[in-house]
Amino acid sequence: MIKKDAYEVAVAGATGAVGRAMLAILEERQFPVANLTCLASARSAGSTLPFRGKEVEVRELTRDSFKGIDIALFSAGGGTSKEFAPAAVEAGCVVIDNSSAWRMEPGVPLVVPEINAHAIGGEPGIIANPNCSTIQMVMALKPIHDLYKIRRVVVSTYQSVSGSGQKAMDELGQQMQQLQEGKGVHPSVYPHQIAYNCLPHIDVFLENGYTKEEMKMINETRKIMEDDSIDVSPTTVRVPVMISHSEAVNVECEQEIDLERVRESLAAFPGVVVVDSPGKNEYPLAIDAAGKDEVQVGRIRLDLGNPRCLNLWVVADNLRKGAALNAVQIAEALVRR
Ligand code: A2P
Repeated sequence: MIKKDAYEVAVAGATGAVGRAMLAILEERQFPVANLTCLASARSAGSTLPFRGKEVEVRELTRDSFKGIDIALFSAGGGTSKEFAPAAVEAGCVVIDNSSAWRMEPGVPLVVPEINAHAIGGEPGIIANPNCSTIQMVMALKPIHDLYKIRRVVVSTYQSVSGSGQKAMDELGQQMQQLQEGKGVHPSVYPHQIAYNCLPHIDVFLENGYTKEEMKMINETRKIMEDDSIDVSPTTVRVPVMISHSEAVNVECEQEIDLERVRESLAAFPGVVVVDSPGKNEYPLAIDAAGKDEVQVGRIRLDLGNPRCLNLWVVADNLRKGAALNAVQIAEALVRR
């Protein structure tokens, strides 16, 4: 991509929960946008979205949408990315794709800029934005891996409904109201009621008994950390929270752990903040992380059964660091080179 003062940027899926966050973050971080093209399905064509004090008209995403575009941020689902990202690349665009469609493809970089910005290649093509639960977990794991080399991670997630998009946020709100009014609920995004419930089921089940979301956490962690020896044992759970994913993470290292060094390294790692004063009831909370950029880490404590293991509680805004912010940071790394 040729270096410019400002770039032609497109957002595919601009009307969605992540797409809207992409627009807000491009504006907040003053990304050098010459012109913004907002793309979505035919249903949204003609509607408008706010950007830098103006309303930008939404256009239908087609194969011809990418002429003259330098950078296309995609967040319109895996099928849409599979169908349209190659056309965008053919038109000379760099695609930063938030779906899972291309992440494990050999030759497609899977990037969390604080960890592996070096993986961004020189050619125009697709750069994959990792899964939201994986991004916030590896942000907490990387400084620990650099200190003590991680062998195995056991993680349970508490994932908000915004990870399933705007319809799921609407469904949670409606169910809460219907139940308070004594009415029945009719789940449509999820297979069960999500209000006042926890669903140990994110994305589809595979033959091995794990869900696709769980397999993403296993495979993407290895690819981003560039270490296939790390074992990840995940259970991913949808909870009735609007925004921010939380994770209980047990980490086993090769060496005995000095907790003070872990705290210092986490606090010094870009994009991570330590929130860990349990005596004052201070620990990361989904409602506090929502709208913020940093991954919050707390409840940092040794595993009582093994001096090579520790436990963490990791919380981040899944729409921001878990998706839109990480994608914009990739674009920033791209134009900085
Ligand atoms: P639209 O709003 O027109 O349906 P979310 O994850 O919040 O549900 O958002 C999904 C985003 O992807 C929306 O912007 C949606 O547009 C867009 N999208 C979904 N399917 C398509 C498609 N086939 N072509 C273009 N955009 C799509």
